[in-house]
Amino acid sequence: MKNILVTGGAGFIGSNFIQYILDKEDDILLINLDLLTYAGNLENLRDCENDKRYHFVKGDIRDRALVGKLFAQYDFDTVVHFAAESHVDRSITEPEVFLTTNVLGTQVLLDAAKAHWKLDLDNKYARDYRAGVRYLQVSTDEVYGALGKTGMFTETTPLAPNSPYSASKASADLMVRAYHQTFGLPVSITRCSNNYGPYQFPEKLIPLMIHNAEKDKPLPVYGDGMQIRDWLHVKDHCAAIWMVLQAGKAGEVYNIGGNNEKTNLEIVRLILAELGKPESLISYVQDRPGHDRRYAIDNTKITTELGWKPAYTFEQGIHETIAWYQQHRSWLEHIDSGAYEAYYERMYGVAT
Ligand code: NAD
Ligand code: TYD
Repeated sequence: MKNILVTGGAGFIGSNFIQYILDKEDDILLINLDLLTYAGNLENLRDCENDKRYHFVKGDIRDRALVGKLFAQYDFDTVVHFAAESHVDRSITEPEVFLTTNVLGTQVLLDAAKAHWKLDLDNKYARDYRAGVRYLQVSTDEVYGALGKTGMFTETTPLAPNSPYSASKASADLMVRAYHQTFGLPVSITRCSNNYGPYQFPEKLIPLMIHNAEKDKPLPVYGDGMQIRDWLHVKDHCAAIWMVLQAGKAGEVYNIGGNNEKTNLEIVRLILAELGKPESLISYVQDRPGHDRRYAIDNTKITTELGWKPAYTFEQGIHETIAWYQQHRSWLEHIDSGAYEAYYERMYGVAT
């Protein structure tokens, strides 16, 4: 059996990952450690809350005592670290929490994994670990900075983050790398492009635009809307992470992306067309400071070395995603009204 610590499992990608694993693996225990910040929502996990293979712990990855206690209690052999402050716009207005959560929180997890898995903890030169253990850092293509009209990010592209968010993720990646180089900790780093799919918090482009369009509210497009992102369905990201855990080499970075570059305007127009709403709802607003112009992932390494490839075409994935948000209006409404906090209180008897 695998005992997996999943951090940030109540967020967008983490909750999709938990559901993905429970759907395909029987012999597994998933412990979801999540602080339930504004972005964490246990309603995302309603379908698995009674599953014996899954357990939720409310807590902070920065809490060393708690993380150590969980390692002792559950004897994890795997860590999949999603928990983060993840929104670029918030990192521009409040950078500090991005450093404490994304960088220091990562270090707490690395220390706990090292302390629990290293065979001879007292010997600083020893590099042997329990067999079969792995720490996986879920990172982002944003650590590479911005591209011009041509080129793609490979795993050896120098890190050049531009926002406090991407700088904090790059810092965390470097700490993960250092724990491998210095201590021999068996780690993997994945760097994925922009995800879309169910349960994404409606501050991010796609759910925000769907939400606003449905309410006939303006759709705020930053600058000229010609920035490019390389979109991947969240389930394809989850499958790639699982594959890296199974077959990825320790100490390696794997880029994840589906060769699917779109301008923001293309995305917004597609959403309006699917919902039958007029383009007059588009509202050009002041650009985001330091806005990265273009991201594009070269996925050669993960496709050739591990055999991963996306299962979704963008056309199918985005169509299903828009339909999902239409069919789950109450999920969005609960976030709007703060009702998901009341749900937590009902479920667990205490406020978030
Ligand atoms: P999200 O904001 O939806 O979820 C983050 C989760 O982490 C939330 O449930 C939140 O409550 C939890 N959290 C925050 N601070 C915490 C703390 N101190 N202790 C414990 N839990 C805490 O984010 P997401 O979009 O699901 O992204 C997950 C990870 O994937 C992040 O590390 C992000 O950098 C990375 N990533 C995201 C994308 C994307 O397109 N969304 C792409 C590539 C990589
Ligand atoms: P976002 O979903 O915040 O992801 P990231 O910044 O991590 O790529 O934004 C995706 C793109 O959409 C990005 O170029 C910024 C743009 N954007 C808008 O134009 N308007 C908006 O209201 C938001 C949230 C994003």
